[in-house]
Amino acid sequence: MPGPVSRVVDERAEEVGFGALKRAAAAMSEGYREGRVSALGRLTAAERTAAYLVTRMPATYTAAYSVLGEVRTRLGNAPVATILDVGAGTGAASLAAHQWYPEAAFTMLERDSAFLEAARGFLPDAAVLSADATTLDPLPPHDLVMAAYSLGELAKPLAHRLWQAARVALVVIEPGTPAGFSLVRAVRDQLLAAGARMAAPCPAETACPVVHPDWCHFAARVERSSLHRRLKDAQLNYEDEKFSYIALTRNAVSLPEARIVRHPRYQPGLITLEVCTPTGLHTERITKRTKDKFRAARKSAWGDVWG
Ligand SMILES: C[S@@+](CC[C@H](N)C(=O)[O-])C[C@H]1O[C@@H](n2cnc3c(N)ncnc32)[C@H](O)[C@@H]1O
Repeated sequence: MPGPVSRVVDERAEEVGFGALKRAAAAMSEGYREGRVSALGRLTAAERTAAYLVTRMPATYTAAYSVLGEVRTRLGNAPVATILDVGAGTGAASLAAHQWYPEAAFTMLERDSAFLEAARGFLPDAAVLSADATTLDPLPPHDLVMAAYSLGELAKPLAHRLWQAARVALVVIEPGTPAGFSLVRAVRDQLLAAGARMAAPCPAETACPVVHPDWCHFAARVERSSLHRRLKDAQLNYEDEKFSYIALTRNAVSLPEARIVRHPRYQPGLITLEVCTPTGLHTERITKRTKDKFRAARKSAWGDVWG
């Protein structure tokens, strides 16, 4: 995350104190794991906000940064002058989008006033809407509408309303779990049927070839602060945030031939890529005999386009 944001996160954590923060972080991760976000209501606003800032925001920021970079590439010069962040929380996705669209005007819509207050501190030029997205009808139109890690907390029919508000594109990011992917896939099916066009990550608008119990997700590496490590009793100074996402547009954009949907596997003289293509999921084995392809594969990673 940008340096000034990380410094504020540390300050907020210090205000709450380590013991209270550790209890809040444990309650928060249990609440999210069990899908009982209502349990977070037991925490004070300061504890809830500090725990989110330290333990979740760096990860959701990094996932959103990765997704929005891809969206920026796919949308090319499509005009994105205004961005609506639905369920903005402490502003992670808006901060990430600001890196890719520094000129855009932001609106952050959030019902938790403590989270919104923190978000406002990070993006003082953004407009804020302290409201419940499920009852705000219609949602205010913006060029790009984002719902990062929030759709799962909202009532399902909202996908259509998010799409109605999106003049250029809609981006939905969810945890990279079977449940998160199933929600993303439902949005994909519903909105492609309503005339939306694919932007990312899929290389086609045809039916998704992923079959249960598999699920389509990607990963972004997140540095763990020493405080985060202590809170989580973690050894590693990084974690891999898994996420599923979909980006849909009003106008067709150029799609890649394929996308890499697993970590590439390396063996001497052989790289194996699992790719999603317009004709389904395929395994590509690339040997040194195809020199340029081999070199390209060596530089490629899970989530990259291929071909
Ligand atoms: C897991 S947090 C994600 C926050 C942020 N987008 C991020 O990526 O870090 C989900 C957010 O959605 C908000 N939210 C849930 N239901 C909402 C609703 N009906 N209206 C507005 N915000 C809502 C929650 O208050 C919470 O801040």
